[in-house]
Amino acid sequence: MTEAADEIGAGLEIEGLSVAYGGARAVDDVSLSVPRGRVVALLGANGAGKSSLLSALVGLVPALSRRLTLDGIDLADRSPERRADAGLSYVPEGRRVFAGLTVRENIEVGIDAGGAQRRARLADMLALFPDLADKQAERAWRLSGGQQQMLAIARALVRRPRALLLDEPSLGLAPRVAADVFARLRAVADEGIAVLLAEQNAARALAIADEAVVLSHGRAALDGVASRLSADDPTLMDLLTG
Ligand SMILES: Nc1ncnc2c1ncn2[C@@H]1O[C@H](COP(=O)(O)OP(=O)(O)O)[C@@H](O)[C@H]1O
Ligand SMILES: [Mg+2]
Repeated sequence: MTEAADEIGAGLEIEGLSVAYGGARAVDDVSLSVPRGRVVALLGANGAGKSSLLSALVGLVPALSRRLTLDGIDLADRSPERRADAGLSYVPEGRRVFAGLTVRENIEVGIDAGGAQRRARLADMLALFPDLADKQAERAWRLSGGQQQMLAIARALVRRPRALLLDEPSLGLAPRVAADVFARLRAVADEGIAVLLAEQNAARALAIADEAVVLSHGRAALDGVASRLSADDPTLMDLLTG
């Protein structure tokens, strides 16, 4: 664990966050913390509010909260761009890579530095994702689903975020490929990044997470240490099936 992970208050702190679409509350008074160096799994059935919560954190949908900070920096009144500048990176659902650009170009799009820094950051990502290093000059549309997901994650990480949010990164991937993606995410957290992982695949997420929060109809219905939660626990299964 890095020094940053030990700092008091380090990481993402969310208190009393709510999101409403018109009159309907999609996220209702949710509080959670994602310390640096930890993976928090955000679980819940389809429609539970996972994507709405992540979208609110990155500033893509309006939200109310009592506290929303990253390493003590208040994010609430910042635009999505300024939240990204503060160190919040987001991998939306659906592996959105630039299909016509090469792997290398896709990563470079995310780099907000020039010169030697730029080259160093690209090299870091290629070292972290050897599969991508082998395909640097390949157009993204030619990659497998798993490789595209790795590329989407690399593009988010190349900004050297303090926190990484991911929306169902295992969706549509073969189990072995998903396991690979999840192993990478564990390694990313171990570097000192706060990882918030929204997933419907509870078993797989719990296997790499430190903590889990289960949303049900927008509320945090259950939370705890990931190793003490079992994906086939009847209470959890009930919540995950809606
Ligand atoms: N843009 C939107 N406008 C209106 N309602 C939405 C919108 N996005 C999501 N919802 C509703 O908010 C609730 C939570 O959805 P969502 O956050 O997508 O859940 P999850 O990601 O857990 O499947 C659902 O009832 C969904 O229909
Ligand atoms: Mg969703």
